[in-house]
Amino acid sequence: MQARRTVSTIEPGGSVHAAIQPLEKPIAAERQAARRHYGVHPYFTRRPFNVVRRYILQYSKEGDRVLDPFGGSGVTAIEAFLENRIGIQNDINPLANFIARGIVGLAEGTIEEYRDSLGALRNQCREKLNDIQRMDDTALATVRRILLLPPNVRLPSNADVERYHDLFSTRQLVSLAVLRQAVDNLPTGPSKQAMLIAWSATLTKLNKTFLSAEGRSESRGGSSIFSIYRYKIARRPIELPPWETFEERAKNVIAAKLEIDKTIEIKKRTEGWRGVFEEHAEDIAELKDRFRGQIDYIFTDPPYGGHISYLDLSTLWNVWLNQNPTKKAREMELIVGGELKHSEGRYIERLSDSIRDCVTMLKQGRWMSVVFQHWKVAYFDAILTSASHCGAELRAAISQVGDPIWSMHKKKRNESVLAGELILTFYKTGEPCRVHRNGDFDVSQSIGEILASNRTHIFGESLFNRVVLEAWNKSAIGALDISKTDFIEIVKKHGWHYDEKNHYWVRDTKSQQSLFN
Ligand SMILES: C[S@@+](CC[C@H](N)C(=O)[O-])C[C@H]1O[C@@H](n2cnc3c(N)ncnc32)[C@H](O)[C@@H]1O
Repeated sequence: MQARRTVSTIEPGGSVHAAIQPLEKPIAAERQAARRHYGVHPYFTRRPFNVVRRYILQYSKEGDRVLDPFGGSGVTAIEAFLENRIGIQNDINPLANFIARGIVGLAEGTIEEYRDSLGALRNQCREKLNDIQRMDDTALATVRRILLLPPNVRLPSNADVERYHDLFSTRQLVSLAVLRQAVDNLPTGPSKQAMLIAWSATLTKLNKTFLSAEGRSESRGGSSIFSIYRYKIARRPIELPPWETFEERAKNVIAAKLEIDKTIEIKKRTEGWRGVFEEHAEDIAELKDRFRGQIDYIFTDPPYGGHISYLDLSTLWNVWLNQNPTKKAREMELIVGGELKHSEGRYIERLSDSIRDCVTMLKQGRWMSVVFQHWKVAYFDAILTSASHCGAELRAAISQVGDPIWSMHKKKRNESVLAGELILTFYKTGEPCRVHRNGDFDVSQSIGEILASNRTHIFGESLFNRVVLEAWNKSAIGALDISKTDFIEIVKKHGWHYDEKNHYWVRDTKSQQSLFN
């Protein structure tokens, strides 16, 4: 869906950026198609790389500075880097930067060095790890005493177990420590860093939160950290073979390197290679002072309220990688709840400030895309109102629905799950615009009108996003106060029902007549 007007010509005194036409259609997500993002190291809410890349190509030019202030695993900065831009990654979570830096680092060193490092680890560890698999408890306890283990820190209070070491069986702890020691002993260089990423990714599978997927091989599955966003111990934890688990990860890393090398090689042979990657670990308020008026494009998805406590949940990796977030980072984390029990009021205020800071960092006449999804209209209000107040005009709003992760979440629950994001794209005019937010808005009528214009079915996400935008366009976003239960009830009252199989709303055949058609 498109919002308000589009820029179709080069504005007087404007640049090529001003002539850019906003993207108007959703882009089918290809999450698994890039080895550099899929299979190297997991992270939360990773954006589909092909969507991010398409936005970067649309809204920025070669040599431009492309920033993601809430960069996560670095998809924005990595894709910008590979597209001959200056990709700027920022995140207060050390794990996020470790992954982003690690993936970009795969552009360094030769494939032979990587294979040699894996070979050296195989020679040193495979037999040892197989022996550990056969050890009894007494032998394991003896080995454990001589190994360097991470500090046994306290876990977040909603974890099933109290301490870090309780996340592992002794066998897992010992196996991981043996592997880690061998990685640490590799000669310093890019291939050592690559093996460290593979080791860190192995941590995800060799702990008691790992659940193997039903009906598939044991190693397929995931950790509760990613499915229910807390440290839940599996009822019947399974112990995957440590060497094979690591080797699979390391091979994924090597495949990602090959892919990155090839991408860069093609650029070198065609338009030339100028990609740059920069990394920062600051709160956006500090970042703003560093990049005031210097950024050409921002693509970002800020944390969505209280769904995921990134810092708490990254403890599994950050502790053993010896890179704990600072107290300040914890205080500055943009979430509702978490161990510091941040309030919702603070979140809304900081979300609004973050958008203001993003606009401050953008050059005049440049673009910014913000990905967001939530039932709370107040969060959308914070984003849209803040952008408008600071001189950024909403030019496009696209609902992205239907990718594989989306349907996985939908399968777990039902119509009450929102799993397709809205990508809001703004253009910095530099002319602040006061927003009227409290006009009249009849939510049932709005829903009815949207439903009437859809003949057979509609995704709940698209419908909800359209209602939010409708309220925004009618200067009434402040008056739109709707819960997910109300929303579902209203849609049903209009004669539509939820199709559990296809995860969308369908017009009842009996009541072909909705209230408004
Ligand atoms: C929705 S995730 C981004 C995921 C990313 N788009 C990707 O593809 O991997 C939001 C990120 O914001 C980070 N974050 C939270 N508060 C922050 C703050 N105050 N400053 C910078 N980053 C922050 C979190 O650590 C998390 O990685």
